[in-house]
Amino acid sequence: MEIARVAVLGAGLMGHGIAQVAAQIARSEVYLTDVRQEFLDRGVKMIDDSLGRFVKKGELTENDRAEVKKRIHATLSLKEAVREADLVIEAAPEEAQLKCQLLSGVDKATPQRTVIASNTSSISITMLAAATKRPERFCGMHFFNPPQLMKLVEIVRGVKTSDETVQTIKMFAEKMGKETVVVKKDAPGFIVNRILIPALNEAIFLVQEGVAEPADIDKAIKLGLNWPMGPLALLDYIGLDTTLSITNVLSGETGDPKYRPSPLLRQMVRAGLLGRKTGKGFYDWTEKK
Ligand code: 3HC
Repeated sequence: MEIARVAVLGAGLMGHGIAQVAAQIARSEVYLTDVRQEFLDRGVKMIDDSLGRFVKKGELTENDRAEVKKRIHATLSLKEAVREADLVIEAAPEEAQLKCQLLSGVDKATPQRTVIASNTSSISITMLAAATKRPERFCGMHFFNPPQLMKLVEIVRGVKTSDETVQTIKMFAEKMGKETVVVKKDAPGFIVNRILIPALNEAIFLVQEGVAEPADIDKAIKLGLNWPMGPLALLDYIGLDTTLSITNVLSGETGDPKYRPSPLLRQMVRAGLLGRKTGKGFYDWTEKK
């Protein structure tokens, strides 16, 4: 199935990047929508800043930048965004109820042929698919932050996802310049977050127990494991709230105590120390800016 028109729901950290890659690399017409004008404006600005980085490096011209921006249509109207979409990619906050409500509305407003994908990082694809009347044309399409640079997309099957849907998403992800893996079973955390999130949580336990300073924990993992960022810097980058949501899904869905979130993570989220997006997390990003 040819994907010419894409709707991206949510202009946040992931949504803006997904919209950009769909317009920049796959050259699709992209409808980007969110619930408030300020969220849309911020998303469009992040896209422009990111395109500016490619221009600075000589990978895009100013003309390319303008062309990509022309292919991205920001609208507050969900109906307008999804009305004629070939593919809808949901990138709303990690809250199951919110996503289910949104997807049920999208299902009613889009043609039956449209494939719906969710960028959820951990919520059950089968549950999200059940909020629509087209579970066979629904699947997980999990990007990594920043979507403009990270090569991987996890394609996650729900119980009823059809082979044709997996194939459509695989082809479109490749058109976006991504490598794909297929997650055959809808298991919490899929592949990457099943491994990453417990590791990040464990790094927070090290801080909580006073085993080492945050900078030394990051230094150890950067140099000892060759990660591009240490786990605490990565937590600040992903957002502590998002990490807590994923940890809660892992521990809630499996009931396995090994996934329990560290009390320090919960406290930091309560205090609004969410990382880069609020200026402070394990590091002070207001100074770094
Ligand atoms: N758009 C375009 N270019 C960008 C960019 C963006 N949004 N962000 C960074 N860049 C470019 C910069 O221009 C720079 O280019 P250059 O080296 O060619 O000049 C280069 O990337 C490096 O940028 P910075 O100097 O700002 O270095 P940073 O360290 O701050 O960021 C990084 C670079 C790519 C984020 C790198 O540090 C990295 O790979 N970090 C790990 C990211 C990661 O693990 N992501 C996965 C998180 S898990 C996830 O997303 C799953 C979810 O479900 C939780």
